[in-house]
Amino acid sequence: MSMTVATKSSAEIADIAELIGRQRQGWSLEAPFYLDPEIARLDLARVWRRGWLFAGHACEIARPGDYIVRELAGESIVITRARDGRLNALFNVCRHRGARVCTSAQGSARMLTCPYHGWTYDLNGKLTLDIAAEHGVDRAAFGLHRAALEDVAGLLFVSTADHPAAFVDVRAAIAPAAAPHGFDRAKIAYSATYRVAANWKVIFENNRECYHCPGAHKEYIRANYDVDYSLGRNETEIARRVAESNNRWQRLGLTAASPQSDMTGPWYRCNRTPLVPGFVTESLDGKPVGPLMGTIAEPDSGTLRVTTFPNFWMHASADHAVTTRLSPAGPGETIVDVAWLVAADAEEGRDYWYDRLTPFWKLTSEQDWVLCSSVQAGIGSSRYRPGPLSQKRERNVQGFIDWYLKELSTP
Ligand code: FES
Ligand SMILES: [Fe+2]
Repeated sequence: MSMTVATKSSAEIADIAELIGRQRQGWSLEAPFYLDPEIARLDLARVWRRGWLFAGHACEIARPGDYIVRELAGESIVITRARDGRLNALFNVCRHRGARVCTSAQGSARMLTCPYHGWTYDLNGKLTLDIAAEHGVDRAAFGLHRAALEDVAGLLFVSTADHPAAFVDVRAAIAPAAAPHGFDRAKIAYSATYRVAANWKVIFENNRECYHCPGAHKEYIRANYDVDYSLGRNETEIARRVAESNNRWQRLGLTAASPQSDMTGPWYRCNRTPLVPGFVTESLDGKPVGPLMGTIAEPDSGTLRVTTFPNFWMHASADHAVTTRLSPAGPGETIVDVAWLVAADAEEGRDYWYDRLTPFWKLTSEQDWVLCSSVQAGIGSSRYRPGPLSQKRERNVQGFIDWYLKELSTP
């Protein structure tokens, strides 16, 4: 793979081009991809600022005036719900002299007022203060800058790019599958934020394989077929389970079953996988942990898995969903936000219980963070060299690496 060095003539970028050029198919990445501050900067510029980033849930800003502030690709973005219910993604940068307009992570307001000199914007980002006499400019040209925003059945995606990549195929893949889950009328029952001592790519590579699952995730593998599927084992039972699920799910208006974890498109995937018999949801004992969500009519509806590179994955069962969002905080650190969703009108202690709802993905996530931190530490050793990927069980890791290197090599 070659890379044109057009944007920057620094020796560092030339070295990165050489590094990309010698990356071998079927091998893990060389150490600088996980350690080097210049590559981390290039990741931000070429992967994160160019892509679509999962930003949160429409149900977090359910009422007009609600807003959330998210750090996305090194930018602070305010997502608001305006009076007419429409959503906006606005750069949190005052058009006067650049101060942060919103200083709390979330809130509810009629207007957004910059705390520095009081410039005031409406929820669509329009400057409401008349500045013509004092500043000599028309306020119409001084609204908050907008970022692209897509609301896919309640899942919010933002792009900070000047010319965002097409989203139409992603929406077409995700929206019909996600709609029955009613994420737009859900609530976050529980959330956890982790600071993981690992590069974001270590974390995504770990997510893209279940080679480590038998040793690491005894809870996860009791419920899921991933290990068998990647090894071509237990094919008859899996095929029977897929066929049986398909019959039922199509009758229930759900998208078709697929046993696989492969990507649907270059940077996204969406599939509904059957759970192992006895599991109607991803809980420790397989039994429901909350009321059914959205329009889903039966508990045994498998798990809808949605993934988008570079920062999102979700497992949604009939009664709850768990979303994971990554934000890089330097070459060796990633902030991970995990959220557990249930139906909006469900009540803790009556309809769901934290100690039944959260352990499955809390354990699985935390088991992963330990492994990822260990990998990052090992990559920092003078003896780390790329290792050979499994051609059966790490095909999706290779898929991630291929996508990443392509993005990184595109000026
Ligand atoms: S910087 Fe916001 S009002 Fe001055
Ligand atoms: Fe894992």
